[in-house]
Amino acid sequence: MKLENKVAVVTGAASGMGKAIAELYAKEGAKVIVADLNKEGAEAVVESIKNSGGNATAVSANVAKQEDIDAMIDAAINEYGTLDVLVNNAGIMDGFEPVADIMDEKWDLIFDINTKGVMRAMRRAIPIFLEKGNGVIVNIASTGGQNGAHAGAAYGASKHAVVGMTKNTGYMYAQKGIRCNAIAPGAVETNISASMKNINEFGMGRSRLAQGVIPRVGQPEEVAQVALFLASDDSSFVNGSVITADAGWTAAF
Ligand SMILES: NC(=O)c1ccc[n+]([C@@H]2O[C@H](COP(=O)([O-])OP(=O)(O)OC[C@H]3O[C@@H](n4cnc5c(N)ncnc54)[C@H](O)[C@@H]3O)[C@@H](O)[C@H]2O)c1
Repeated sequence: MKLENKVAVVTGAASGMGKAIAELYAKEGAKVIVADLNKEGAEAVVESIKNSGGNATAVSANVAKQEDIDAMIDAAINEYGTLDVLVNNAGIMDGFEPVADIMDEKWDLIFDINTKGVMRAMRRAIPIFLEKGNGVIVNIASTGGQNGAHAGAAYGASKHAVVGMTKNTGYMYAQKGIRCNAIAPGAVETNISASMKNINEFGMGRSRLAQGVIPRVGQPEEVAQVALFLASDDSSFVNGSVITADAGWTAAF
């Protein structure tokens, strides 16, 4: 098993890629804090992990709140004694608004969850990793964090910022036993469309042109395999990198 006795926190783990990552990590021997805004969903994931013989604990956490981030990391320490792997996966989509149409409230919501939540969780985890002399961070960015055509201005900027933070963090702590990488998934079959509110027809139309060359939609389990690689020692020489997992979609650009 690739994560035997490791303790992992996965945010947004009640659904989609977070759920698949939590389940795969548990299968590979990790003890997993399944954190999500959706407590019931998190509990269901924990139950399925336990039914398969794994070890997991559900935590209700809104990554837009500092106190919830603290409680989520504390849960790993209190339940399992340490933290080895942090997966910042929780995220929401915008409504494909181009910059002229984005409202401050929506911009702030997207950034609070997709970007500030990632910063705050890393800020909380790094001191633990520094004390241990090791630790791994996996950030779920997006192909929208590398390109301009995949969502609206807010989502794209929020994910570009995650890529920037990932590179900075990977570089800063490179000699401290800490690795920080990101995954840029393309289109993946999850429940993320539920977070798309008040779709902007113009922005969606522009984005649709780029979506026209998507080779295929991926499954959450395919991204979880990349997250396993990045959490495990198999990727010991990979740091500050972004791994694109999109079936070749963005190879077109
Ligand atoms: N699905 C895609 O095509 C796609 C592509 C690229 C990147 N992503 C990114 O992948 C990540 C996972 O998304 P998904 O597609 O699996 O979506 P999903 O909606 O299936 O799962 C996201 C989970 O995050 C949780 N969540 C939302 N806001 C939260 C908050 N404030 N605090 C804690 N949890 C919160 C939701 O309750 C949900 O369980 C996101 O960061 C998303 O931006 C998705």
